Amino acid sequence: MNPNDIERAKNAAAVLAVRENLRNNMILGIGSGSTIIGAVREIANIVNSNNWNIICVPTSYQAKSLITEKNLFLGSLDQYPELDLAIDGVDEITYNLEAIKGGGGCLVQEKIIATCAKRVIAIGDWRKISNQLGENWKKGVPVEIIPEAQVPLTHRLEKMGGKAKLREGKAKIGPLITDNGNFILDVDFGKISDPEKLDSQLKSLTGVVDSGLFIKIIDKVYIGLKDGNVEILD
Ligand code: A5P
Repeated sequence: MNPNDIERAKNAAAVLAVRENLRNNMILGIGSGSTIIGAVREIANIVNSNNWNIICVPTSYQAKSLITEKNLFLGSLDQYPELDLAIDGVDEITYNLEAIKGGGGCLVQEKIIATCAKRVIAIGDWRKISNQLGENWKKGVPVEIIPEAQVPLTHRLEKMGGKAKLREGKAKIGPLITDNGNFILDVDFGKISDPEKLDSQLKSLTGVVDSGLFIKIIDKVYIGLKDGNVEILD
């Protein structure tokens, strides 16, 4: 796989998604990950060239930094609890627009922002698309948990048929700590036949903050292809 093809595909999807969906005076949710970087760059280009008034609400520490680096107007959910649009990356997405997110550890804020938005647009490259969740994304479903519940939840998840692995920090020994001060369990359920049911089962476990299953949340996805074109699923 040529890394240049991947970067080109990610950027093509991000740029087209922004060009087709950004309007003046929007309150906009900004997702996290590597694909969103190209989207924020394009948002800044459009805002600067047209003198548009766009308020950006971040889904993570990274998103907040991207917004401020580009001198975009930073807002919060306290000020703007209803968003016009949210744009975000995905780890895996099906043709039904069911997705796994949280590979970058920001799933909870991403889900809060997405569920406050009138429309949610996902962006990614061709490696993200699959027929069934769990088919291409082999790292498991990210589940953010309260740290104290790690061991009991690991047992409960095993009883539900999932193999839970505590996500480790990089350049840090021990668990990764999310932007919300929690842990993440990556739970391998294999191919997921009923993601909606699994999402509600996960959320019913005490100690689980939320899961990275995004079901009936995403409205449209822009997938960058190897040849530089972009496929849109609505
Ligand atoms: C962050 O927690 C994730 O949900 C990202 O949105 C997702 O991992 C996509 O990231 P990339 O754009 O880097 O693939």
